[in-house]
Amino acid sequence: MEEYYRRRAEEFEAIYHRADPARRAEIKRLSQAAQEALRGRRVLEVACGTGYWTRLVSQTARGITATDSVEEVLNVARRKTYHCPVAFRLENAYRLSFEAEEFDGGLANFWFSHIPRHRVDRFIAGFHRTLRPQASVFLADNVLVPDVGGELISRAGDDDTYRRRTLRDGSEHVIIKNYYSAEDLSAILGQHVPGLNAANVFVGQHFWYITYRLP
Ligand SMILES: C[S@@+](CC[C@H](N)C(=O)[O-])C[C@H]1O[C@@H](n2cnc3c(N)ncnc32)[C@H](O)[C@@H]1O
Repeated sequence: MEEYYRRRAEEFEAIYHRADPARRAEIKRLSQAAQEALRGRRVLEVACGTGYWTRLVSQTARGITATDSVEEVLNVARRKTYHCPVAFRLENAYRLSFEAEEFDGGLANFWFSHIPRHRVDRFIAGFHRTLRPQASVFLADNVLVPDVGGELISRAGDDDTYRRRTLRDGSEHVIIKNYYSAEDLSAILGQHVPGLNAANVFVGQHFWYITYRLP
């Protein structure tokens, strides 16, 4: 998957500029919710990609440490301007190298779907370890729209689903892409955050988001 994002770095943000008004309206809604959730916070962003959300959230955050495991996407992100101090770091989301409780905000957009199901709990635990009590977290990703995003692939005996993607250079990639309902998300995250339930989740036509506070 990292090779796919390495090659896709320069064309990645086309997904945020599709003409569909419903899609645009939902992106705006996600953006406003993320800005509100992370207002005034020192944010750790996981899998920041080309900095699309970093830039939007920088309008209200106090500071952002934006991380990704692919240098090419970080290089695109570094070329942008931000409204608050932003530091970029090459980091593997599964082995975050920060001290415990360094941040009071957490952001990971369009990353959750790329986590193999058997690694989700370990990722959440490692991510939350870097966050202080009462930290505010915002996560967002795609809702399953079968015809959008390439051929959907399921394999017998495999819990994960995949999408076949073709880049502008003609290269083909099969990448992991998992989809969750509000109930799935609240059940998974509820194991880490007592009291969290499906009311914390917004599910639209194209995207979902969840926002919550750590205990
Ligand atoms: C769908 S993109 C999301 C980028 C950005 N958050 C956004 O929403 O525009 C997924 C990102 O995950 C990154 N990634 C893949 N494997 C990773 C890993 N193990 N650790 C950290 N980032 C990873 C990719 O480089 C890519 O930038």
